[in-house]
Amino acid sequence: MSSNNQVIIFDTTLRDGEQSPGASMTKDEKLRIARQLEKMRVDVIEAGFAIASPGDFASIKAIADTVTGSTICSLSRALDADIDRAAEALKNAASGRIHTFIATSPIHMKYKLQMTPDQVVEHAVRAVKRAHNLISDVEFSLEDASRSDLDFMCRIIEKVIDAGARTINIPDTVGYAIPEEFGHTIEQLLQRIPNADKAIFSVHCHNDLGLAVANSLAAVTAGARQVECTINGLGERAGNASLEEFVMAIRTRKDLLGLETNIDTTQIVPASRLVSSITGFPVQPNKAIVGANAFAHESGIHQDGMLKHRETYEIMTAQDVGWQTNRMVMGKHSGRNAFRARLNELGATFSSDAELNHAFTRFKELADKKHEIFDEDLLALVSDVQAAD
Ligand code: KIV
Ligand code: ZN
Repeated sequence: MSSNNQVIIFDTTLRDGEQSPGASMTKDEKLRIARQLEKMRVDVIEAGFAIASPGDFASIKAIADTVTGSTICSLSRALDADIDRAAEALKNAASGRIHTFIATSPIHMKYKLQMTPDQVVEHAVRAVKRAHNLISDVEFSLEDASRSDLDFMCRIIEKVIDAGARTINIPDTVGYAIPEEFGHTIEQLLQRIPNADKAIFSVHCHNDLGLAVANSLAAVTAGARQVECTINGLGERAGNASLEEFVMAIRTRKDLLGLETNIDTTQIVPASRLVSSITGFPVQPNKAIVGANAFAHESGIHQDGMLKHRETYEIMTAQDVGWQTNRMVMGKHSGRNAFRARLNELGATFSSDAELNHAFTRFKELADKKHEIFDEDLLALVSDVQAAD
């Protein structure tokens, strides 16, 4: 099922994101984030892992009971009790999904599960059938897929699709894949599995090598049509693919990729701020899209270019992603044009070029001592110069 150009956005901030050490959230906090995700038009919200704790169960239930604009999902291992608990939490959902998983890599099967590959297939099929009896929307994940054998993945996927799974998720659980290889895996699965057209293929990439978004893009180029991601890239260890980066790459490079999402991108910065304030995880200033400097320009050459045409140094607008505006930062790299333009905006004028030059020299001296020069600094400096001249 990869013929359409719509990529489903599955947000797992409330499940995998919450697995970041120190990021646990209360039920009310999760509800606030879920409402913001719904407002942003996220297609699927993974609200938690119902069997993990009574609190997680209550959070999923509260979200499923009240958030109707997105599909609400609970994770569950391929175990009867997990699946039943997930179904119970989702019972009032307008649209609910059970996401069940089992590991398929040799190392996980041998050491963690202590199961043979045949036993893993048997468990997976049984879990999907049980989930499918309780809810129509079932997703199945092959944990550690990027270190699993391709023939074995084809075998288990064919069987779980027959058992009722309608989304097949291929996680790069340990962030081991590189884009070309990961795209090739997706392409092979889609070509080799006879009933692949009955399911949507999804990916779930971790960021251990900083490649989670690149791997997700390679996967959609190869035919995957669901991407699992989190706000601010929150998640286990180095985190998950960042929703804001993936969504804006799809939007900005529609010319090349020909794909789209449902996301209202103007809700991205509010979502980022909400998640950061609730979890207490700050967003680094140079973080793509949502970092404080993502739309800030300091160098004289860049500021001069921006004053002539915005697209010289911006590939999207700050407003597209929910900032009020971009920023011209006045610092030691700023040039005369930007200096004059900012002072004009502030209502200050110069009686001569000599006065402007004098003020600009004083500005550069100050900028060597201070990281950022604020509007008040500029105005004070100009009135000093004008009083002296
Ligand atoms: O990283 C992973 O493999 C997971 C699965 C449970 C989908 O989070
Ligand atoms: Zn994960």
